Amino acid sequence: RKPVTLHRLREMHAAGEKISMLTCYDATFATLLDTAGVDCLLVGDSLGMVLQGQPSTVPVTLEQMVYHTQCVARGNRGAWLIGDLPFGSYQVSKEQAVASATALMQAGAQMVKLEGGGWTTETVRFLVERGIPVCGHLGLTPQSVHALGGYRIQGRGDEAAATLKRHALALAEAGAAMLVLELVPSVLAREITASLPIPVIGIGAGLDCSGQVLVLHDMLNLTAGRLAKFVRNFMEGQPTVQAAVQAYVADVKARRFPDEALHGYQ
Ligand code: KIV
Ligand code: NA
Repeated sequence: RKPVTLHRLREMHAAGEKISMLTCYDATFATLLDTAGVDCLLVGDSLGMVLQGQPSTVPVTLEQMVYHTQCVARGNRGAWLIGDLPFGSYQVSKEQAVASATALMQAGAQMVKLEGGGWTTETVRFLVERGIPVCGHLGLTPQSVHALGGYRIQGRGDEAAATLKRHALALAEAGAAMLVLELVPSVLAREITASLPIPVIGIGAGLDCSGQVLVLHDMLNLTAGRLAKFVRNFMEGQPTVQAAVQAYVADVKARRFPDEALHGYQ
């Protein structure tokens, strides 16, 4: 297939063609997901939990993100590759953010993702001006789990919703080319997606985002313990991992996933 570009992703958002994204941490899965037609691979700092067994994403280092981004880049051919800036690698200064983003880009990322709204606007502008594509991340931002008091829905109530909208608009105006919305009411995610010129990728944010992302190991039912409400087990009824990933892409494209009643939040 033709490599996915930022231009193509923006076209898909404008045309209402759903964008599929999964997390990916190694070369084997990168080749598998790329071959299955996943539009975007996210080297998420969720690797702290998924690969390292950490209780949160907070302990993940830039060096570890660089290593996994290199692994994924070697296995990928056509998917758009996004790398997470880990906790502490962009908060100190705009200059620190450029240095950290450079490390991820040199490891093979085509875009970097950072969490938070408000204070991040100037950092995003600084990165974008220097040729680094940026994805924002609002709603439940896992690097702030201790400040937020747990993994709980964000943006409920008029005031919280207005703040989230303001932060989303500011990120887009600062030049962010994509936005991840995590654990927010479906109606709020729909309003934000409709109001922005850039693709909005949802996780626990309802059907009306420009696309969807899940943690790979969650949707393959490899994660021990209780799964979040917004996850679907795509291995169910599928003979192989390849078939499960193809089913995910097909269900995102056809708006069969997520299902508002099963996976949505009010
Ligand atoms: O690290 C991650 O997996 C993420 C997604 C859940 C968006 O940031
Ligand atoms: Na992340």
